[in-house]
Amino acid sequence: MKSLSFQNGDQIPIIGLGTWKSKPGEVYQAVLSALKAGYRHIDCAAIYDNEIEVGKALKDALAGGIVSRKDLFVTSKLWNDSHRKEDVKIGIQKTLKDLQLDYLDLYLIHWPVSFKKGVGFAESREQFYTYADVPLAQTWQGMQQMQQEGLTRHIGVSNFNTEKLKELFAIGGQGPELNQVEMHPYLRQEKLVNFCKDKGMLMTAYSPLGSGDRSISSKKSDEPKLFEDHLVLSLADKYKVSPAQILIAFSVHRDIAVIPKSVNEERIKQNLEAGSIEFEVEDFKALNAITTQYRFIDGTFFTGSKSPYNLSDLWEEF
Ligand code: A2P
Repeated sequence: MKSLSFQNGDQIPIIGLGTWKSKPGEVYQAVLSALKAGYRHIDCAAIYDNEIEVGKALKDALAGGIVSRKDLFVTSKLWNDSHRKEDVKIGIQKTLKDLQLDYLDLYLIHWPVSFKKGVGFAESREQFYTYADVPLAQTWQGMQQMQQEGLTRHIGVSNFNTEKLKELFAIGGQGPELNQVEMHPYLRQEKLVNFCKDKGMLMTAYSPLGSGDRSISSKKSDEPKLFEDHLVLSLADKYKVSPAQILIAFSVHRDIAVIPKSVNEERIKQNLEAGSIEFEVEDFKALNAITTQYRFIDGTFFTGSKSPYNLSDLWEEF
């Protein structure tokens, strides 16, 4: 399995298992199946509300000798209500307890958006009253501290644009080592990818399959579907693989880690096998030339009249 190198030589396996939207009751088996199939990278977050069950699967896999801790790469993310410096440690300690681990391989600031303590996902506009402004620098210093204390080997961010990354680099000390953002052929994020590469950062693509299982309220009825894209379908036919495998291979060919979510054993296996697809140069070029541009996770849930955030602060232009 191909992997990518951090600046100190540590490796992150390029394909990982995503666990956003994986329900307790499903995610234990999904993580165990993935580890048995050969996955060594699991992507988690406190807000996914399933880390206790992911932790049981990790514990059983480690105890059963399916994988050893040093070969496993586990990522988790600090939720928006824990951006104060003193809350960062509380956040990582809760995640470590739930995952039954002594350390994480990678800890990310989940969003450049901060909430008051105790606020979960902003599902109702009323919750916009509960935003609190904590400077990103404060949160980043908390993250640096966690790395120094050995609670995580690497630190990074998620959903950060170039402007916000620059703010973190200006602080000094360890800069963000990885940025996890939505990426697929409809959202290639070339400007952000080039910026991260220039800074020596790695990247991870979330929602590589378009996250069709996310809640209906966050979907537009006319949104484009990656699984129905003509080019993706014709390449699936040509390489005798599934459309999902084409989408995963696209990220692998860009040297960008990718974390397809599945709770189905067959699809979990299939997704890992996408790592061995070799595209002809012309086919990869064609995927990079798709003109449809679409952001599935558009962040409008963080905006509104009661919020200090707006979409142009959050995102890079296409
Ligand atoms: P399931 O969990 O039942 O396999 P994303 O990673 O972009 O969030 O997308 C996850 C969605 O894609 C889920 O609905 C998941 O369903 C589905 N999915 C995952 N792998 C495949 C695959 N190989 N083929 C088709 N659908 C897939």
